[in-house]
Amino acid sequence: MYPKTIEITEVGTRDGLQSESRFIPTDQKIKFIKGFISAGLRRIEATSFVSPRAVPQLADAAGLVSATRGQGAKIAALVPNAKGAARALEAGADEMVAFISASESHSRTNLNMPIADALKAVEQVAQIADGGGRTFRSAIAVAFGCPFEGDVEPAAVSAIAGTLKGMGVRTITLGDTTGMASPRHVENVCGRLLEDHPDLRLTLHFHNTRGLGLVNVMTGLKLGIDSYESASGGLGGCPFAAGATGNICTEDLVYLMAELGIETGIDFDGVVAVAKEMERAVGRELPGQLIRSGPRSKLHSIEAVRRAVG
Ligand code: COA
Ligand code: ZN
Repeated sequence: MYPKTIEITEVGTRDGLQSESRFIPTDQKIKFIKGFISAGLRRIEATSFVSPRAVPQLADAAGLVSATRGQGAKIAALVPNAKGAARALEAGADEMVAFISASESHSRTNLNMPIADALKAVEQVAQIADGGGRTFRSAIAVAFGCPFEGDVEPAAVSAIAGTLKGMGVRTITLGDTTGMASPRHVENVCGRLLEDHPDLRLTLHFHNTRGLGLVNVMTGLKLGIDSYESASGGLGGCPFAAGATGNICTEDLVYLMAELGIETGIDFDGVVAVAKEMERAVGRELPGQLIRSGPRSKLHSIEAVRRAVG
């Protein structure tokens, strides 16, 4: 019924940290990424080559990529335009992810340009990635709903995917930027894309804003989708979308997959250890749940518990 194996992409140092106002030192980010690689993650969206004025936390993109590439995982980075692609190429990013929005309003707040111009920018990024021998994919933000416009038509997402395909895109990430998706939207949007573009590989990127993140993953699995993005500790959120909160949490996702018997290649204790370090770095409790509870296999001493004697 479900895929036997899925790929999990860690976005904790990108989506996870992009809204953090206090700059997390590059050395610390490098340590997180090395921890993810040791835990078995093989694709890491490490950072974004965007305007450092738009996202100051990721101004160290080049240093982070050059210090983490070639160490056993594919290091991917978001890239909004040709300038970002040139920076990513120079830093040695393995993969460029050109991102656009499914709604005009989010395209303007996030990229300061209409969708049509953003699509032209994707084409330039594709050419630069191709010329530099890097892999390339695209991500569509607010694909399951826009915080400014509401519902997004599956047909509109499918049309954008069709245009991207014409530029050579073979893998598309569908982003639920502000956690507006429910299983119904996942079925409608992904169903439409799988039908219209059976040759595209889909990756799903959910935020747990309304508590439906893992429920939406279950819906994706039922549709046969075998690639998901998550952030360590459940950190995350887009600074250019109202009401954005954390991504689905890597440890919680790894735990769920283990319970379902779906192979991820990721060591649960390893990702919990990194999440605890991330929690210390941002200085507050993160929303992930397994980081507190531990797995169900962790039993407790009966002596340590108060008895309900009346
Ligand atoms: N990397 C670094 N600097 C960049 C850049 C990039 N990829 N793209 C543009 N810039 C710089 C330009 O060189 C210019 O600098 P200058 O004023 O010192 O000459 C300045 O930014 C403005 O350039 P312009 O092309 O007019 O950009 P803009 O102001 O219209 O912003 C984006 C467009 C795409 C660069 C900006 O909206 C952005 O970085 N968005 C990313 C948002 C994001 O990361 N969202 C979260 C992920 S979903
Ligand atoms: Zn996101």
